[in-house]
Amino acid sequence: MNELRVTDQKEFARRRKQLMRMMGKGALAILPAATIKFRNRDAEYPYRQDSDFYYLTGFAEADSVAVLAPGREHGEYILFSQERDRTIETWTGRRAGQDGAIEYFGADDAFPINDIDDVLPGLLEQCDRVYYTMGCDPDFDGRVLGWVNHIRQHARGGARTPGEFIALEHHLHDMRLYKSRAEIKCMERAAEVSVAAHKRAMRVCKPGMREYELEAEYLHEFRCNEMQPAYTTIVGGGGNACVLHYTANSAKLRDDDLVLIDAGGECDHYAADITRTFPVNGRFSAAQREVYEIVLAAQMAAIDQVRPGNCWNDPHRAAVRVLTEGMVELGLLKGAVDALIEDESYRRFYMHRTGHWLGMDVHDVGDYKVGGAWRQLEPGMVLTVEPGLYIPAKSKGVRKRYWDIGIRIEDDVLVTKDGCKVLTDGAPKTVADIEAWMAG
Ligand code: GLY
Ligand code: MN
Ligand code: MN
Repeated sequence: MNELRVTDQKEFARRRKQLMRMMGKGALAILPAATIKFRNRDAEYPYRQDSDFYYLTGFAEADSVAVLAPGREHGEYILFSQERDRTIETWTGRRAGQDGAIEYFGADDAFPINDIDDVLPGLLEQCDRVYYTMGCDPDFDGRVLGWVNHIRQHARGGARTPGEFIALEHHLHDMRLYKSRAEIKCMERAAEVSVAAHKRAMRVCKPGMREYELEAEYLHEFRCNEMQPAYTTIVGGGGNACVLHYTANSAKLRDDDLVLIDAGGECDHYAADITRTFPVNGRFSAAQREVYEIVLAAQMAAIDQVRPGNCWNDPHRAAVRVLTEGMVELGLLKGAVDALIEDESYRRFYMHRTGHWLGMDVHDVGDYKVGGAWRQLEPGMVLTVEPGLYIPAKSKGVRKRYWDIGIRIEDDVLVTKDGCKVLTDGAPKTVADIEAWMAG
């Protein structure tokens, strides 16, 4: 059974109330838990609860369904979950059961998951709007339609089907975009441990090591702090850093190369997402430093744009300008900076955007545009700022000294009332700080 502090339960109850207020009376929300996924044959992937489900329940068990029915007389929050079973629990661990769902997780009403086919049609019958996210789990979609059809078949007996199906994510994902104090605490903890992991990797890095040996340092730090990686760790030495989603992590780290590491831990379902790039031998070469200083300047310029009132695209715009100016300076691109930005020539060496929302999901939920315009930044939003430059070997027209240099610098940034707070700035990122830390 998952453990929770009382304060946590209050937070989950507050979220359910807020969502139910937006749904209004006569509505019903249905949220299934994440399904267990198999890696191969009998071996399961580690179970990770669905983010929407956990956000509203704090309940980490599989085979559960949460239902919210604002105004329902017999209770607004109904939780279907696995029944207690001593024999099975010997194999798979303790379950909350229905009593636990009510006592520890704040459910108003609780049923065994095996009774859902009998109970849910009755709940659906009493509502006229169903909030449900279609398309995430085709099996569950089918079951929801099955329940609705079941009611339809009994229409002559006076049963009525809900008139409207509404995507749950509009309200829910907007809520998730604004982080509460409790959420920010989790994200700060994820950031703190992930920063420690990056510092640890920088300290132990030596020429001749394999990329996976550095990956192991992150896993050590995460697991020693009750965390898992929030996503697959990327450790790319030399030219591997130019492969954006490189995860083989198998190559030998060479003396004169940089290594790019994109790694973050997950604390109670909240992610950190940090990238640092540093020299394998602890000293930047002149060419590496030239490229690095440009990426760093771009990142600082982008972070400088993170404040309430500015819009989502402002940090990206600032980063693209600094990077493009730098690319011209280094001779990677030729022409006028404005034109190179306008026709997107910079994309040859900077092909991704400067960030994304961050939260329970690494690429977190929330719209980036509202009414066709870039969204304004507001306090409580958390985003990454992660410009980079990627120059593969044999890049035509590029001096050889820049070949196989791939650099990204990524921090997690909270929008505050008067600007922003970088949650991950404990990980060294200036040339001087990195070299000093690695020499230590
Ligand atoms: N680690 C995934 C990303 O940086 O977007
Ligand atoms: Mn990221
Ligand atoms: Mn990342």
